Amino acid sequence: MSLLDLIRQRKSVRDFRDQPVEREKIMACLEAARLAPSACNSQPWKFIVVDDPELKNKLSQVAFNGIYAINTFCKKAPVIVVVISEKGKFIAQIGGMFRGTRYYLIDIGIAIEHFILQAEELGLGTCWIGWFNERAVKQVLNIPQYKKIDILIALGYYDKAKIGPDHGREPMEKIAAFNTYQTRKPGHKDRD
Ligand SMILES: Cc1cc2nc3c(=O)[nH]c(=O)nc-3n(C[C@H](O)[C@H](O)[C@H](O)COP(=O)(O)O)c2cc1C
Repeated sequence: MSLLDLIRQRKSVRDFRDQPVEREKIMACLEAARLAPSACNSQPWKFIVVDDPELKNKLSQVAFNGIYAINTFCKKAPVIVVVISEKGKFIAQIGGMFRGTRYYLIDIGIAIEHFILQAEELGLGTCWIGWFNERAVKQVLNIPQYKKIDILIALGYYDKAKIGPDHGREPMEKIAAFNTYQTRKPGHKDRD
């Protein structure tokens, strides 16, 4: 399958099969993440893979409680990957402050998408999770409270038939242009 077809195929998965995920497959996803580019090659990430069923249940019970209940579906995911946003290299931090750009967020975004696309190629479904009880996740996994966790990844086997509706995307004319900032709405006609 071409990379573009793989990208087209990937959708957020919110209903997982009750089937464990092989460690070799998880390692392949981690390897894809490890090879991601980052500002100043800072690599400001750590991935904690939670695949022990008991620990994973404990984690999802506290992470998706109360105001985070919208993500209760994660309880069915056999694996939750906790992505810790590390500080990265000093030069990237200084450069980021100077530019007003949080390079580390761009970096972890790339690494996570590498992970997710590798998972898709291996027949595994994923969902980015940005809405969760961060404090509780740290407590359960003994991660110091001063660390930052921006994203979790829900991972597991899924049935293609159960994928939710396509969220659609903006048309190309609206998001991209050559040689000018101006983008066009579909159906737009230039006036003479
Ligand atoms: C940074 C980020 C955070 C997200 N957080 C959540 C989340 O907490 N819960 C959820 O169900 N989906 C979450 N998503 C998934 C998006 O809702 C989803 O990617 C988007 O609607 C497009 O749908 P698709 O992934 O099926 O193409 C998140 C995605 C990103 C990139």
